[in-house]
Amino acid sequence: MQTKVLKPTPESLALAAEILQKGGLVAFPTETVYGLGADATNAEAAKAIFAAKGRPADNPLIVHISSLSMLPEIVSSVPEAAQKLMNAFWPGPLTIIMPKGKKIPYAVTAGLETVAVRFPVHPDAQAMIERCGLPIAAPSANLSGKPSPTTAAHVFEDMDGRIPLILDGGPCQVGLESTVVDATHGHIILLRPGGVTREMLEEALGEEVALGKGVMEPLADGEKALSPGLKHKHYAPKAEVKVVLGPDDLRAQYILDSAAKDACPCVLCLEGRRGLYPGLTVLSAGNTPEDYAHNLFAALRHADEIGCTQVYAEGLSLEGVGLAVMNRVERAAGFHVIQL
Ligand code: TXA
Ligand code: MG
Repeated sequence: MQTKVLKPTPESLALAAEILQKGGLVAFPTETVYGLGADATNAEAAKAIFAAKGRPADNPLIVHISSLSMLPEIVSSVPEAAQKLMNAFWPGPLTIIMPKGKKIPYAVTAGLETVAVRFPVHPDAQAMIERCGLPIAAPSANLSGKPSPTTAAHVFEDMDGRIPLILDGGPCQVGLESTVVDATHGHIILLRPGGVTREMLEEALGEEVALGKGVMEPLADGEKALSPGLKHKHYAPKAEVKVVLGPDDLRAQYILDSAAKDACPCVLCLEGRRGLYPGLTVLSAGNTPEDYAHNLFAALRHADEIGCTQVYAEGLSLEGVGLAVMNRVERAAGFHVIQL
């Protein structure tokens, strides 16, 4: 299959809608990462997503909408806390798990009675969903296990020959996948930190938000995951990743000593710390935690492109978007964390 890469225009959006309505797959930009979309009401179309990504069949998909009027078809009820969060953060990078409605097949939810719903703010994502008039099931548009794509070129790298169309809306603004919360337990549980931070959720709800088990630490063998995604290896480049935490001077010394023994090492750190690593390849995490989020997946892909065998990722504090960044880096490292 030939894979077209087109800028979003009325013509390419019409083509995308036609492909989606016929049960085909289209990759599209969102404010978080690129999604691999299919008709969320069509079980066969959803199965094609799992095949194209090589995704484990037990990992459910997020259903994307372009207006609140689509919600009653997708969920059977809207929990009170979910309503508060929708009012505060939709459209935007927040996914809310609610009781599943009848129109959504189990192929989308991987057999669960709950469904994850997201209303993206990206204008091209909204235009595509609106144009085809269907809720769109979409995971991140990477091959399963690889870092999520934040540009159309990343999608092409993974999906060339597997899907007919990639809409190229430029680089994604947030750069990490949406925050995922579960609203089906009477209180909100944070299952995946993201651009809508834990602090922002707590402020909107007026109460503390619990972090799901397995989010910031590996699950024990045989332990049940609240979200199937927590079981699977994620975001991993070919290079080995180690996260280094601790006082600034100790971190730099550890990385320099350790890198001296590696074939092709590199460091991922904020710009302000670049000077601590003379002679080492530095992948820039930018100037702020928000930049780190924006740059992380592209940096991990770049590490592979330049043949790095070892990435030393400097840790961040867990405040604000730091929690999401650390969640992704620690998973990319298989929870290989050096605490000094
Ligand atoms: O930003 C995003 O969320 C992107 C863009 C494309 O919207 N999508 C995305 O999808 O990251 P994906 O499939 O890579 O991640 C979805 C996560 C998985 O960890 C999955 O296990 C979890 O959401 N999830 C989906 N439905 C669920 C459900 N009913 N219960 C628990 N977890 C669920
Ligand atoms: Mg993903």
